[in-house]
Amino acid sequence: MKPILILYASRDGQAERIAQTLAIHLNTWPVQLCDLKTQSAQIISSAAIIVVASVRYGRHLPEALQFFKQNAEQLAQMPLAIASVSLSARKGDGSPNGYLKKLIHQHQLSPFAALSIAGTLNYPHYGWLDKQVIRLIMRMTGGPSDGLSCIEYTNWPQLAAFAQKITAHLRQDHADG
Ligand SMILES: Cc1cc2nc3c(=O)[nH]c(=O)nc-3n(C[C@H](O)[C@H](O)[C@H](O)COP(=O)(O)O)c2cc1C
Repeated sequence: MKPILILYASRDGQAERIAQTLAIHLNTWPVQLCDLKTQSAQIISSAAIIVVASVRYGRHLPEALQFFKQNAEQLAQMPLAIASVSLSARKGDGSPNGYLKKLIHQHQLSPFAALSIAGTLNYPHYGWLDKQVIRLIMRMTGGPSDGLSCIEYTNWPQLAAFAQKITAHLRQDHADG
């Protein structure tokens, strides 16, 4: 059985945690986890590609963008799922938000599953400039702008449902041969 490849792009660890939790949910399949920042991904011999990438300053992390740019042709032929991690996603129901829609459009992707999932807010961890940017984002979206809060917004049941969707799709693919 070919493995599912879970590729992640993370700076502060939440997209990585989400990728690891997804791997646990998908444990009936062989799964390989790969950090796009430090490892090169061998996508050819995999059953499916799942990309988990966080948003910073309005865009997904550069290693994720580079991956989509460099592998556009192969990705068009393979089952692809994407989870986009951001703070603005805390307001949504998991369906693709503006960041994810833009990513899909720009790289002409056709994922069979696409999730916008909330990440974490960790003011004490941010430097001065980042803190001001996040305070602005939170103020604009009605969240805490105190510069002190530390909150995990990730909706884990939403991730479990995403994993179920992936499993169902792959089972169907497998059954179709
Ligand atoms: C410097 C910085 C910029 C960010 N920019 C955005 C943004 O533009 N929009 C948004 O919704 N969330 C933004 N976030 C929130 C992150 O997407 C969120 O904290 C996520 O959990 C980070 O994932 P990571 O821990 O995998 O890096 C930003 C966070 C930081 C630290």
